[in-house]
Amino acid sequence: MTTGEMVATVFKYGGISAAAVVGLYAALLGLLSTPTFQVHVVYLHKIQMTWFKDLDVPESFGFMRNQVTPFFLESSDGEKLYAWHILPIELYRKHEVTLLEEHVDFISDITSRHAFKLLRDDPDARLILHFHGAAGTVGSGYRVPNYRALSAGQPGKIHVLTFDYRGFGKSTGTPSEEGILLDAHAVIDWAMNTAGIPSNRILVFAQSMGTAVSVAISNHLARSSPPVVFAGTVLVAPFVDAATLASSYRLAGTIPLLSPIAKIPLLFTYLQRFMRDKWSTKDRIAQYIRANEANAEKYRMTLIHAEDDYDVPWDHTTTLFWHAVNATTPVGISYDELEEKKSETKKDLGAAGTVMEWHTEYGTIREEILKTGLHDVIMGNPVITMAVMRIFQALDPSFTCQVD
Ligand SMILES: *[C@@H]1O[C@H](CO)[C@@H](O)[C@H](O)[C@H]1NC(C)=O
Repeated sequence: MTTGEMVATVFKYGGISAAAVVGLYAALLGLLSTPTFQVHVVYLHKIQMTWFKDLDVPESFGFMRNQVTPFFLESSDGEKLYAWHILPIELYRKHEVTLLEEHVDFISDITSRHAFKLLRDDPDARLILHFHGAAGTVGSGYRVPNYRALSAGQPGKIHVLTFDYRGFGKSTGTPSEEGILLDAHAVIDWAMNTAGIPSNRILVFAQSMGTAVSVAISNHLARSSPPVVFAGTVLVAPFVDAATLASSYRLAGTIPLLSPIAKIPLLFTYLQRFMRDKWSTKDRIAQYIRANEANAEKYRMTLIHAEDDYDVPWDHTTTLFWHAVNATTPVGISYDELEEKKSETKKDLGAAGTVMEWHTEYGTIREEILKTGLHDVIMGNPVITMAVMRIFQALDPSFTCQVD
């Protein structure tokens, strides 16, 4: 049934008049334009999804005793951000005896913990900074299998740091684009200065809303002086910008709430204007690539999206890939020209989807369109482990778990 037919059926059997529907729709748009409502709809931060579990007891999320260290870090404007430092399993196994002996009470000084020292004192350790999507906490949904997939390629070396943005879970404050960027800053500052991990041993992983955060902060750092560029970035289910996402959003995966608006340019401009937080990844990804090309900084960016993602349609990724690739060319490349090149060079992996890589002297931009994986299940899949290992090995080919 098409949307049109569905609406017709509702009219026919539901006894709702067209005028009432239009009225309701207008009311919805009016509501959507209020800042408070927007904050809740965009970030969904009050939806925790882990109501009956205590985040301070990571064992209840499936971790070993003291495999995870919960702690707070602080943003420059004074918000307390709740974070988890997660040890990879082989490292945990090696140090199990010592880790089991440590008490499990919530600590105020993470630097006193054995797990923290395993990160800070290993010159070979890698750290993944994790930027989760909207709603929930560090412990929600597919995020836990996601952490396992991230370190599975080298479970003796790859640590994960994950955190809740302001207003999410146990973190203080209210989310906003500006505020969340301060949060991202605080996390990077912790990684580089408290844990002392240099940027070439740090990888940024982000999903959904987190992709907008991570691209924004990476762009900011790449354009700072001196520039800071991480080993690489893996983006899962990214979106072009908040307005485009809102207009392609489907309620319960089926009803395209705002798409009638997106088709009328004047109304779309209005939608863009009333969205307080713009999250323009398409512009920031291009700026980030341009900065790295200009500064001769090495970069690796992988974009992954599943065709059956109902929350964020996968054409957001093809658009972002185009903006990124376009930024590597002096004269630009049109979307259709790039699609033409893609059809010649992309790898067709059958049921696993397609892969396209774009190389320059300094960087690699990789687009993986999977056939399946939905919006979040994908995060716990081997494709994530491979994306991480591909990036770390590009920098250091000896970085393997050496199973012969
Ligand atoms: C593509 O790159 C060209 C040249 O730098 C630029 O003028 C153009 O605005 C870019 N297009 C997009 C869609 O970013």
